[in-house]
Amino acid sequence: MCGIVGYVGKRPVEDVLLPGLSRLEYRGYDSAGLAIHEGDSLKVTKTAGRIEALTEQLDGQKSGGSVGIGHTRWATHGAPTTSNAHPHLDCTGDVVVVHNGIIENWAELKKGLEKRGHAFASETDTEVVAHLIEDMGDAPLDETLRRVMQMAEGALALVVIRRSDPDTIVAGRRGSPLVVGRGDGEMFVASDIPAFLEHTRDMIVVDDDRVVSITADGATITDIEGNEVPVVERTIEWDLDAAERGGFESFMLKEIHEQPEAIADTLRGRIDDSGAVKLHELELDDRLLRAIDKVFVIACGTSYHAAMMAKYAIERWTRIPVEIDIASEFRYRDPVVDPRTLVIGISQSGETLDTLAAVRYAAAQGATLIGVTNVVDSALARESDAVLYTRAGPEIGVAATKTFTTQLVAMQLLGLYLAQVRASMDPGAIEYHIRQLNDLPTAVSKVVATSDEIKRMTERWTEVRDFFFLGRSGDFPVAMEGALKLKEIAYVRAEGYAAGEMKHGPIALIEEGVVVIGVATDDHVKTKTLSNMAEMEARGGEIVILQEEGDNGSDFADHVISVPAGPDLICTVTAVVPLQLVAYHVATAKGLDVDKPRNLAKTVTVE
Ligand code: G6P
Repeated sequence: MCGIVGYVGKRPVEDVLLPGLSRLEYRGYDSAGLAIHEGDSLKVTKTAGRIEALTEQLDGQKSGGSVGIGHTRWATHGAPTTSNAHPHLDCTGDVVVVHNGIIENWAELKKGLEKRGHAFASETDTEVVAHLIEDMGDAPLDETLRRVMQMAEGALALVVIRRSDPDTIVAGRRGSPLVVGRGDGEMFVASDIPAFLEHTRDMIVVDDDRVVSITADGATITDIEGNEVPVVERTIEWDLDAAERGGFESFMLKEIHEQPEAIADTLRGRIDDSGAVKLHELELDDRLLRAIDKVFVIACGTSYHAAMMAKYAIERWTRIPVEIDIASEFRYRDPVVDPRTLVIGISQSGETLDTLAAVRYAAAQGATLIGVTNVVDSALARESDAVLYTRAGPEIGVAATKTFTTQLVAMQLLGLYLAQVRASMDPGAIEYHIRQLNDLPTAVSKVVATSDEIKRMTERWTEVRDFFFLGRSGDFPVAMEGALKLKEIAYVRAEGYAAGEMKHGPIALIEEGVVVIGVATDDHVKTKTLSNMAEMEARGGEIVILQEEGDNGSDFADHVISVPAGPDLICTVTAVVPLQLVAYHVATAKGLDVDKPRNLAKTVTVE
């Protein structure tokens, strides 16, 4: 995710772009930049860091221009440095581009452009767009952008200005958000409404595969073939705060709803046409991956639950033994690590000190280290031999939601990749699982849409003092994560437990008034889980069964939640979403601030 804003009108352009970018910081904040038409030239100012750093760099100077574009970045290709910050220029400095999304075939396009003599100044996928436009010569800018959009695969919202068109901004959209705002003799374009809401409430909707040309007087929209399409306007009803949260009550709820898109981004460009996994960014020698005889997966908090799932995936698909460790425990048990060990550190932030200390320890014993993180160029990314980014975009809510489901997907991709390299799994089986991964965005959308049902189910739970979340096998990490979410944001005692282990002690705690949620989606074990849940029902617990659509055997339950049917590990992703919603609705019914739970920090950099 990144934030884009563009303006053409009568105001000093900095006065619109800088506050607009600040309103979009929730979309990313690792570097920022502006490009402004100033006399006969285009002035580009950019820097690593937040909008504040850009504002400081500009130091109150006004260009005198009133047409410009700006960007706040959340890196996906290339570290968050000044040279990778947007806007990006072509070789001549005539074309300037900002972009939100992922251009999947950028490496291929770049190679072709380099052959034709184009020199690149950044490591980003975006820069290819500026050079492609340059390559197309003096054709009208909207036409060139349409051609670029036909060549570029993947998700994009692109906004472009050109020196020879001082009054026009051209923008294109496919798969990434883009809206246009209409003012009085001024026009705005942005990734999201908050960027211009203080200036206008009149918005023009831009659909996918459209290119829009904007001047101070209005907008013209064409489809990808160049046919003009009607301009549809809407009035925005939200206030600024609500708009920043996309109309959701909280960032957490917004981020729960962003999961389908985030998962699609995690998968984007990582599966080739033949159904094989391509993880180019890993850049690890296949011989090394074939020689690995043990894997450790190390993480904290929610990321540890992704590690639990990863153990099942990697062991099942590669037959390499996998150990998982809570990062703060790892070093103190004198683990057996050697150069044939693969260590995978999972950390959303890439800065959790416990995780960093653990993986540093393993690396010092000669292990190969793969970092799985959401933050490009984080400490984990820098210190790893190879990195796999989860590409969830920034997560503002302290409780992890979309960063967890994207970790689950990234770890399944990694597991399949290892199986592919080691030839430990039939290619047809890999392809089958990949098809299921590709279906996940749709499946997760369906589950997210059940939010109101979950709300009704949880309405009477504000006074409940004890919850248990139970599951076996692939359902166990889901249960653990469901319990953690409830603890974190609703401040209620919730235990995640292996369903089969309950009878060995904790069952003594089950009585009337205790809510027991059983996750029973894993085909290998779900009938056993249901039997365990029946034991909870017999002790007076209020029973919830989370199952796959079409399943039966849960008649004894007080409530049933269904998720789309799918293979076991695929269901870890869909099944955790209702549990995120359970925690969310219990916490909000109690009047708690779900985005900033007490005593917690999003990133913990102390041991
Ligand atoms: C903190 C957060 C948790 C998170 C954990 C690990 O404790 O409050 O939500 O799961 O750190 O964070 P990481 O960034 O390493 O995934």
